[in-house]
Amino acid sequence: MSLGSGIEVIADKNRVEKKQSYNEMVKEDFNILSTSYDRINLFMSLGTDKQFRYLAIKHLIAAREDHGDLNTWIDIGTGTGHLANELFLQKPDVYIVAMDITQGMLGFCKDRNAHVEGSMDLVLGDASRLPFRERAFDGGFSGFVGRHFTDYSKTLKEHHRIIRPLGRYSMLEMGRKATPLAPLIDVYVGQMMSMLGRLAAFIVTRGSAPFRLLEETYARFHSPKQLSKLFDGAGFKSWYKTGLMGSIVIMLGIRKPDTHKR
Ligand SMILES: C[S@@+](CC[C@H](N)C(=O)[O-])C[C@H]1O[C@@H](n2cnc3c(N)ncnc32)[C@H](O)[C@@H]1O
Repeated sequence: MSLGSGIEVIADKNRVEKKQSYNEMVKEDFNILSTSYDRINLFMSLGTDKQFRYLAIKHLIAAREDHGDLNTWIDIGTGTGHLANELFLQKPDVYIVAMDITQGMLGFCKDRNAHVEGSMDLVLGDASRLPFRERAFDGGFSGFVGRHFTDYSKTLKEHHRIIRPLGRYSMLEMGRKATPLAPLIDVYVGQMMSMLGRLAAFIVTRGSAPFRLLEETYARFHSPKQLSKLFDGAGFKSWYKTGLMGSIVIMLGIRKPDTHKR
């Protein structure tokens, strides 16, 4: 498309292409990693991920401000279904849509066993364009997926759209502390994590996993304060808990009540 003075609007086209190709890379890598994902996860987190998943769900359902129903949930980027499973363990009477962009990962959700027949559906979809009507869910959550949001603010607004007013939202993700030493820590942790990730992926997939994602995604880790701003901007009232010296963030949010008449 051309503007005045013959200026071409190509930035937007590039962005779309970059995003599409990023999602293609995500699907390709996670399809290969899916069979080993749980083991790599255990290795990388030294088993701490279980505790943080437990806490993310505990804080999410313990939020006191909302007295409405908490029946319908969405696990965005469910992967092999660990967080959805944790919600079933803590609150067995719910219905969850477990959604992911990677078919291979979704295939392993069935292996989690806390749900009962009819209480979970698997949906293939993109976190930035959710195929659901407005206010469809009482709550939503995601674990270690924010790193793949190519446009954080837009994606959080999309999640806000499908949660009902006063519904709940939680995001579990790695964080980075906003200190003067942050750039040094970034280099150290970013490179260490990439190296460990590559090593783990190499070992468990016997060299077949490309594992290109960590370096790119590390740049998208935010401090809790930055995440709070993004949550507030998307329309959530937010607060957070941190763990492992700020390297894990559990963001929590309540969708603010609508102030305008529909
Ligand atoms: C690091 S895994 C986390 C999986 C799971 N939530 C957990 O806690 O173990 C990231 C997952 O996000 C999915 N993902 C990445 N980008 C996505 C997107 N745009 N929409 C939906 N899922 C996405 C990947 O396919 C992968 O399954």
